[in-house]
Amino acid sequence: MPELKACLFDLDGVIVDTARFHYIAWRQLANDLGFDLSVHDNEQLKGVSRMESLEIILKLGGVQISEEEKLQRAAVKNARYLELCKQMTPADTLPGVRAFLDELKRASILIGLGSASKNARIILERIDILSYFDTQVDGNRITKGKPDPQVFEMGAADLGVSASQCVVFEDAVAGIQSAKAAKMFAVGIGDPQILVEADLVVPGFSDFSLTRLKETFENRNIE
Ligand code: BG6
Ligand code: MG
Repeated sequence: MPELKACLFDLDGVIVDTARFHYIAWRQLANDLGFDLSVHDNEQLKGVSRMESLEIILKLGGVQISEEEKLQRAAVKNARYLELCKQMTPADTLPGVRAFLDELKRASILIGLGSASKNARIILERIDILSYFDTQVDGNRITKGKPDPQVFEMGAADLGVSASQCVVFEDAVAGIQSAKAAKMFAVGIGDPQILVEADLVVPGFSDFSLTRLKETFENRNIE
């Protein structure tokens, strides 16, 4: 039975609630183009890179723009997003996250970041949590976005652990698919009806512990 050696965390929606800022900024971009973006449609954007998210939004609105305008509008969206992020403080770290990371540290379990965001470092610094991470894989390092397994495979390689020794924490459907494609144990943070492919789904870290994780991880069925 493989031992649990590393936990890989998505950022947005797992460590910190930046998803609401992404939504506000994307919705503004859609509004600028003359249509609206619903909360339901926003779900498709979670875990997906900036430019892929833009493509999805343009498709939803039935709007076509030039490649140059895409880059320009994505830059405006990112500037608005970062402006919104300025109001964040360490208190915006999602409930229970810091205590769970402390538990992992005490148990000498390695901690990695696996995020599609190019802003990951800025956000981690802003909420003062960067020092917990033994490695960070973010949107600046990956060439293939989630649901491709690359982001989590790179994290495991950085930490020198095998896929079977890793647990991934993800709030996005694409992220859970990425973890499963990497052959890792996937914990969904959110709604079990949405994150159907996860091995375990919890609402957040508040009522979660390393003991509970280990119980599920160690009793899983290995194919
Ligand atoms: C992911 C978010 O973590 O990062 C997506 O879930 C976002 O919503 C993606 O589009 C890219 O983020 P950024 O910060 O590089 O625009
Ligand atoms: Mg996420």
